[in-house]
Amino acid sequence: MRACSFTSRSAQETTDAGERLGRLLRPGDFICLKGELGAGKTTFVQGAAKGTGSEEAATSPSFAIVNEYHGRITLYHIDLYRLSGPADLEDIGFWELTGEGTAMVEWPERAGDELPGERLEIVFEHLGGDTRKITVTATVPGYERFLEAICPPR
Ligand SMILES: Nc1ncnc2c1ncn2[C@@H]1O[C@H](COP(=O)(O)OP(=O)(O)OP(=O)(O)O)[C@@H](O)[C@H]1O
Ligand SMILES: [Mg+2]
Repeated sequence: MRACSFTSRSAQETTDAGERLGRLLRPGDFICLKGELGAGKTTFVQGAAKGTGSEEAATSPSFAIVNEYHGRITLYHIDLYRLSGPADLEDIGFWELTGEGTAMVEWPERAGDELPGERLEIVFEHLGGDTRKITVTATVPGYERFLEAICPPR
């Protein structure tokens, strides 16, 4: 399990990091985004959608649960915040979406133990003002290719 972290000092820096991830995304990739409300998860996905070449501007899917972006690949932006529990995953077609497409999932904690073990996990922490600590962990070697791209060189 390899990890890296960096400090983002603006929403733009977080969007740029997301864009770098978006350029590398492939069908079937599974990305978890953790962190408190307003930590920057959706901001990061906005950059990722741009990085896939999607023309649509990503917005918060909080009310839709799932938003789709069509660039070089199809990106499913899934927000589980309003999910009551893992039993609801079936209803939103979670397994179909994550099986075929590329998924970026906010509030993955709502899925309990049901998450795929092979994933990239990104944690956003408020450090005051516009500063955020972003930590990226690859649970399997196949996802390590993202680390260098997302964390800028020191
Ligand atoms: N360094 C930063 N990185 C990301 N967002 C930042 C940063 N500094 C300020 N912001 C602002 O913080 C807010 C982050 O909101 P965002 O919707 O991305 O959070 P979220 O983690 O998706 O929250 P939620 O759990 O409610 O969906 C935005 O208004 C953004 O402009
Ligand atoms: Mg969000």
